[in-house]
Amino acid sequence: VTEPDLVGRHVVVSAGGTREPLDPVRFLGNRSSGKQGYALARTAAARGARVTLVAANSTLPAPAGVDVVPVGTAVELREAVLRAAPEADAVVMAAAVADFRPAAYASGKIKKKDGQEPEPVTLVRNPDILAEISADRARPGQVIVGFAAETDDVLANGRAKLKRKGCDLLVVNEVGERKTFGSEENEAVVLGADGSETAVAHGPKEALAETVWDLVAERLG
Ligand code: PMT
Repeated sequence: VTEPDLVGRHVVVSAGGTREPLDPVRFLGNRSSGKQGYALARTAAARGARVTLVAANSTLPAPAGVDVVPVGTAVELREAVLRAAPEADAVVMAAAVADFRPAAYASGKIKKKDGQEPEPVTLVRNPDILAEISADRARPGQVIVGFAAETDDVLANGRAKLKRKGCDLLVVNEVGERKTFGSEENEAVVLGADGSETAVAHGPKEALAETVWDLVAERLG
């Protein structure tokens, strides 16, 4: 039975993966499907929250009763999150956001030229949205949750990332072949800034989402 413990709350969830265009046909992207973020949006709505879902390049159907804001790049995702954050009791960043984008966008398709070496692609840094919204809370008492997708030293990297980003909770999930990105299931440890660690066993992405909302609801009081 779902507890309506988020009634009267507004939550913002980001989902999917950003795409950073190189030219009209190519981009730098990642393997996020949006499933984890959509599961967070669905479960929050079921618990009574008003939900804004900032969705980067996901092809999933919009969950019933959820306000979906489609975005493409990290810069667009930042604008959409910052626009919604001032009204939000909680922000959950499940999106895989590109840390870098190509420095230049070619308005015409980049061609290969006979006998010529390929041009290197120069990258510039994208804004760190999670660090920014954690440092400048749009509302007092707002709960901010990040995700960390790690391949090595998963927990140690997660703990360092939690400190660096300054969020209240960080969901650390391990990336592997056919695991986490794109799959129907996930498993994770949710690290709290208060030192708490909550393990979530392998299961549907909804189960991890429910644990995240349990921890958020506790912190909202
Ligand atoms: O979409 P699915 O296929 O269901 O897969 C789910 C998922 C693997 C994408 C998800 O569970 C997940 O782990 N999301 C975060 C992925 C990630 O790459 O995280 P990161 O370690 O690069 O970033 C850490 C945190 O900072 C994230 O909350 C991210 O949204 C945020 N970030 C990152 C870079 C940036 N420039 N700005 C940010 O806000």
